[in-house]
Amino acid sequence: MIFILDFGGQYTHLIGRRFRDLKVGVQIVPHDVKPEKLSSAKGIVLSGGPTSVNAPNSPFPGMKIFSSGKPILGLCYGHQLIGKHFGGKVERIEGAKEYGEKTVTVLKREGVLEGLEEKEKVWYSHGDSVVTAPEGFEVLAKSGESIAAMAKGNIYGLQFHPEVHHTPHGKRVLENFAFEICEEKKQKDPFDAELMREEAKLKVGSKNAVMGVSGGVDSTVAAFLLKDALGEKLFPIFVDTGFMRKGETEEIKQRFKGFRNFRAVDASKRFLDVVAGIDEPELKRKRIGHMFIEVFEDAAKEVPNVGFLAQGTIFSDRVESAATSSVSSKIKSHHNLTLPEKMKWALLEPLAELYKDEVRALGKKLGLPSELINRHPFPGPGLAINIIGEVTPDKLRIVREADYIFIEELKKAKWYGKMFEAFAAVLPCRTVGVKGDERSYEFPVVLRAVESKDVMTADWVRLPHDLLQKVASRILGEVPGVNRVFYDISQKPPATIRYE
Ligand code: XMP
Repeated sequence: MIFILDFGGQYTHLIGRRFRDLKVGVQIVPHDVKPEKLSSAKGIVLSGGPTSVNAPNSPFPGMKIFSSGKPILGLCYGHQLIGKHFGGKVERIEGAKEYGEKTVTVLKREGVLEGLEEKEKVWYSHGDSVVTAPEGFEVLAKSGESIAAMAKGNIYGLQFHPEVHHTPHGKRVLENFAFEICEEKKQKDPFDAELMREEAKLKVGSKNAVMGVSGGVDSTVAAFLLKDALGEKLFPIFVDTGFMRKGETEEIKQRFKGFRNFRAVDASKRFLDVVAGIDEPELKRKRIGHMFIEVFEDAAKEVPNVGFLAQGTIFSDRVESAATSSVSSKIKSHHNLTLPEKMKWALLEPLAELYKDEVRALGKKLGLPSELINRHPFPGPGLAINIIGEVTPDKLRIVREADYIFIEELKKAKWYGKMFEAFAAVLPCRTVGVKGDERSYEFPVVLRAVESKDVMTADWVRLPHDLLQKVASRILGEVPGVNRVFYDISQKPPATIRYE
């Protein structure tokens, strides 16, 4: 196992991801972790960080790690830490703030730089540089005045970032460190489920953990991972908002049958009441969010000795929630991210370092069915935000049926797995139509199917006309109250994927 000491760098998580891709076990730990906790480490990576090693109060690791004899790889800030600790000179070279792509000259193609070319493209992102290597350190690569790579024994410092794709041979560098320097073996399972369970068990101790489960991939995978570790100490709570899709509540109850302390709370009436008369999307989301917390808290109060709130938070949630809370402007409130703020319990987030595809792989290993693992995203506020404007029981019926038909036909036609997300929504207006000989005045349903790689942008899926025709005929024929079906061909931006 390689331990990554986190100095707050923006790429720390990526370092972890890259090692896992090489099938090497990793653990990201705080920079000031006690050196004794690293006794099982085959190697230690010191991550990048936003500060200068010369600044007062800049973060340092426990100094014993430098004399532990273990292989160390310092990246950017980590490299400067090594420079500083061993007596080299670290300075800000005026006017030489080095961001972006650079070509470095590799002087010695050995150690972590084994197999590289003489000139290598690498990614820089730093202010300080190691200008004089500490005594005993050999300079392995240079970029102008600054040292791009240096080494002494099994301690390596790199000024650049091998973990980003902009460093084309970065993977080779990490492979060299893991397999040659640390002598790690490739593992079958880089995110060791057993280890994750052990950690959870240790952390929770004699306390109980409550957990909100939504039926989505992340919370279900997290719950199944924790099931064996915590046993009866795990209390999964499913809040049925009444905004679930057709058949979903039953499915969730069925799936969680094996959890002794699973509880499903039917709060559909409370949720419907709280959104009655509301047509402003943010207010609707806020009300649902607050009600969710209220219902969850009520249910959790019945659990004795609670010390932890377990969550299926994954890496991208942390990035998104951080972004929505500070720098980027708030576009939509994701109610599922506001839960922990209100709770006084400690958090247990076993999937916090994993990317979505890794969560899926873990779910598969835990024996969860592929329909669950490969399902499209479904927002916490559920069908309430598939009803544009005021939510009424009748519109809920319409959207639930229409959405079910759409998804069923996409699955039958084998299109479901080819897209990022699809759903039906009901529009807040009525139009005239004719049914039999009668005039009708009813709601339109809109279908949306999108392709997206990163959620930030999306394109509509070019579904075959015949398939759209089939879906429309079924909705018009089978769902009373609908007399028109639209297909949304807006891209994001300027549209968003969901309507509210
Ligand atoms: P938008 O509509 O902003 O959606 O383009 C981007 C992605 O986020 C999902 N989404 C949510 N996910 N809680 C969630 O967990 C929410 O409240 C929420 N609202 C939107 C949406 O389905 C899409 O995948």
